[in-house]
Amino acid sequence: MSEETPSDQTLANLSREERRFEPPAELAEHANLRAEAYDRAASDREAFWAEQAERLAWDQKWDRVLDWDDPPFAKWFAGGKLNAAYNCVDRHVEAGNGDKVAFHWVGEPADDTRTLTYAQMKDEVCKAANALTELGVKTGDRVAIYLPMIPEAVVAMLACARIGAPHTVVFGGFSSDALASRLTDCQAKVVVTSDGGYRRGAPSALKPAVDEARAKTAENGFSVEKVLVVRRTGQEVDWDDSVDVWWHDAVDSASTEHACEFFDAEHPLYVMYTSGTTGKPKGILHTTAGYLVGSAYTHWAVFDLKPETDVFWCTADIGWVTGHSYIVYGPMANGATQVLYEGTPDSPERGRWWKIIEEYGVTIFYTAPTAIRSFMKQGREIPDRHDMSSLRLLGSVGEPINPEAYVWYRSVVGGDRTPVVDTWWQTETGSIMISPLPGVTAGKPGSAMTPIPGVAAEVVNDEGEPVPNGSGGYLVLTEPWPSMLRTLWGDDERFKETYWSRFNKQGYYFAGDGAKKDEDGDIWVLGRVDDVMNVSGHRLSTTEIESALVSHPKVAEAAVVGAKDEDTGQAVCAFVILREEAGDGGDDIVEELRNHVRKEIGAIAKPRQIMIVAELPKTRSGKIMRRLLRDVAENREVGDVTTLADSSVMDLISSGLASGK
Ligand code: WTA
Repeated sequence: MSEETPSDQTLANLSREERRFEPPAELAEHANLRAEAYDRAASDREAFWAEQAERLAWDQKWDRVLDWDDPPFAKWFAGGKLNAAYNCVDRHVEAGNGDKVAFHWVGEPADDTRTLTYAQMKDEVCKAANALTELGVKTGDRVAIYLPMIPEAVVAMLACARIGAPHTVVFGGFSSDALASRLTDCQAKVVVTSDGGYRRGAPSALKPAVDEARAKTAENGFSVEKVLVVRRTGQEVDWDDSVDVWWHDAVDSASTEHACEFFDAEHPLYVMYTSGTTGKPKGILHTTAGYLVGSAYTHWAVFDLKPETDVFWCTADIGWVTGHSYIVYGPMANGATQVLYEGTPDSPERGRWWKIIEEYGVTIFYTAPTAIRSFMKQGREIPDRHDMSSLRLLGSVGEPINPEAYVWYRSVVGGDRTPVVDTWWQTETGSIMISPLPGVTAGKPGSAMTPIPGVAAEVVNDEGEPVPNGSGGYLVLTEPWPSMLRTLWGDDERFKETYWSRFNKQGYYFAGDGAKKDEDGDIWVLGRVDDVMNVSGHRLSTTEIESALVSHPKVAEAAVVGAKDEDTGQAVCAFVILREEAGDGGDDIVEELRNHVRKEIGAIAKPRQIMIVAELPKTRSGKIMRRLLRDVAENREVGDVTTLADSSVMDLISSGLASGK
């Protein structure tokens, strides 16, 4: 095993977890997906996926379910034609469900709410599609979306899908630099943004970051043509008449009639950037049919969605893949009623989420372990003040959920009635891959359990051989699946190398996670085995943060590791060597560098800790041994140093830190 995989101690601790939670009888009896689906899917996977594809509306059916003639480049539902936006709005209206609520939108300021029915969403999407066309966007052009959690974000995504213009949503918390690199990488023609959004009770600006990003891309010889601006907060914005257009001017006056075109099953739907092991974010490409089949099927199966009665709430931001698959495409393809919330969990008060659940009768709730842990810390008195008896199912995503957090979630939020589905998946997989089925599986706190019907996963050793039950290894997906990424935007080689070349086995997808199979063969995902950190469920690359640090004039060299953190899962810890001419860097050097990272990448990447050191531990081939730095960051005795080029370096680091240097 590689030096990065979890210790035997971690594995042993986890296998002592013996609690089991059987599905409630009522849920099991009426479950959307039953135990028989596992065998049915395994005996003919393509037939199973073809059956799932029937939940969409097709202009033309496919000729072939899967074309895997040129792996790892898959084509799913080849020859089929459809429109993703038509599937998410029009067909529900045509089926007589136009008056059904698509979104109960809750703004951050109290009482700032909107209700949008499917008919209203259809009108808004059509108007926005007409407006984008009017701004010059054509099929195949890329459109960037940099918005807070307001209904216009969903409308803009579906308007892009409607006209076949792949969107790339950039999380509103990312800096102008991060935005600029994404705009340049996918050569976005238009950016949709807003003047600002609300955060913790105060307006916070967004448009200035777009202006700065445009200036930066212009330096690289690339210019965005138009910026479509939603007025959300009413704050002052700089305006360039040749580029900027108000949403209320362009969209509000546009026609609600828009005949949609049907696109090839493999037409690009969106690009979502995510951190990889190098400094350059990867543009994950998802295409239309397979992605929509995967997100709709999993939303129906894993959340046991009953569209007539359920109110679904996924707390993710639309800037992440979870928001794409489980706010926009999956739930809307299924005609679900949802809550969409603009703000943070604790504004204006700590019980805000529970109040929303009570007020809207949320039945299915999907959030991240980092949020659950922070609520646990605040104590059960806050959720106990609210009637959350409407909840019948809870979901978790983004990082391994600690067994204690799982049990707290189930008992305090779910009143000990609700199953918890711990869902493992990635931006790359497009939809949930490993999860309990709520009406079938007896859940184990901390385990994502087994691949869902239609998905094939394994835990393998360095040679790519399945490990026996009770052992750990690398998590792989062994068969293609419909919502798989198709490539990295503009970089087929990096796509092949990153995901498909780790094992000498044709068609094994390397997820980058370590995992364990317990004695029953159930899967426990243990976290990344590469240089990717998971901070509050967000993926960050060590190299990306190192590059940001090194771009500071006082920094000579930097090494970043993810250290265990009680609240955020992992936290960013940086070791920095200053340039000689910078001397000791000045009194505020640590704060200066932390803010520099925030400016370069965004607040989520700001290191928890920066240690100024004289040397970094390196192997003879010059590779930084992060394992040793992690020992320091986690206050452990430093491990084996025999492969260091200079084994005294660790003493130097430890003694330097001890003396407060
Ligand atoms: C981690 C988010 C354990 C994992 C959907 C993965 C998880 C990365 C789980 C993907 C889970 C996600 N249990 N780990 N249930 N869900 N992860 O691309 O390390 O932002 O590789 O996708 O998050 O993060 P991404």
